Amino acid sequence: MPIDIAVVPVAGHGTRLLPATKSQPKEMLPVGRKPVVQYIVDELSHSGVKRLLFITGPGKTSIENHFDLNPELIALLRETGKEEQLQELAFERQQMEYFYTRQRRQLGLGHAVLCAEPFVGSQPFVVALGDSILGVNTKSNVVERMVAEFERTNADVVIAFEEVPREEVVHYGIALPREPVGDIFELQDVIEKPSVAEAPSNLAVAARYVFSPSIFAALAKTEPGKGGEIQLTDAIRRVLREGGKGIGFKLSHEERRFDIGNFESYYQSFVEFALADPDYGPKLKQFVRGLLDNS
Ligand code: UTP
Repeated sequence: MPIDIAVVPVAGHGTRLLPATKSQPKEMLPVGRKPVVQYIVDELSHSGVKRLLFITGPGKTSIENHFDLNPELIALLRETGKEEQLQELAFERQQMEYFYTRQRRQLGLGHAVLCAEPFVGSQPFVVALGDSILGVNTKSNVVERMVAEFERTNADVVIAFEEVPREEVVHYGIALPREPVGDIFELQDVIEKPSVAEAPSNLAVAARYVFSPSIFAALAKTEPGKGGEIQLTDAIRRVLREGGKGIGFKLSHEERRFDIGNFESYYQSFVEFALADPDYGPKLKQFVRGLLDNS
């Protein structure tokens, strides 16, 4: 059976984006015209995902509302002659079944993925982080290609990676490839936040994964690490250590990751997406140029 289930964890507190995230999920912050999580759902739909499980938590109901059908709003747009706005709601009708489960305590990304086990059972599945977009207004099909590689190589774990400047490896899980790196490579290990000197590469984990169900057993055995959180990377390392096959997948420049988890990259992402807006981008460019010239 083709892999058509994706798990999207959106239960985190988003403390690095306070106060913006005090009463709204960071996954619902707009980047250009759409909330972050809508880009992710559009991308997954484009990659052949048919069933999507959100791992939600307190204060995240606006995500559920966003993906519901809203007949009253549609009727209102029709009645008030705003038919042209209807296409903005077309995403409501895309071929996707939505499911929701709660992570009752925010014990980390690994724990959030483990919450998917009763739903996913014993089949392979995709994980896409709810706060990371791939590519500017491109619907990346990287997940589809990762799934194909997962099946072709009979892998246990396929992870997307992106190249980061050497001095930034300290912020990420970094790939230790088994052999010299092409765009797809065999993964020996993932080193969490190494020093610049010790980093085995400059390839950082980039928010998309394909897992065999063996990840659940590894997560169940993973002790909480820093901050009492169960780290997904620790479970991935366990799978690899126990002989599981790992594949790394290098993102192209067009598919680079936009991380909406901190203000620096949120601001950068918003500006880049807004500048790429076909209607408003050109004027915004002039506006920003003017601001910069006068600063
Ligand atoms: P982060 O690692 O950025 O964690 O989450 P966070 O808790 O949301 O943010 P900070 O560090 O407090 O600012 C990456 C993704 O994993 C989800 C988040 O919602 C985000 O989409 N996540 C994280 C969970 O679902 N549960 C968790 O316990 C932690």
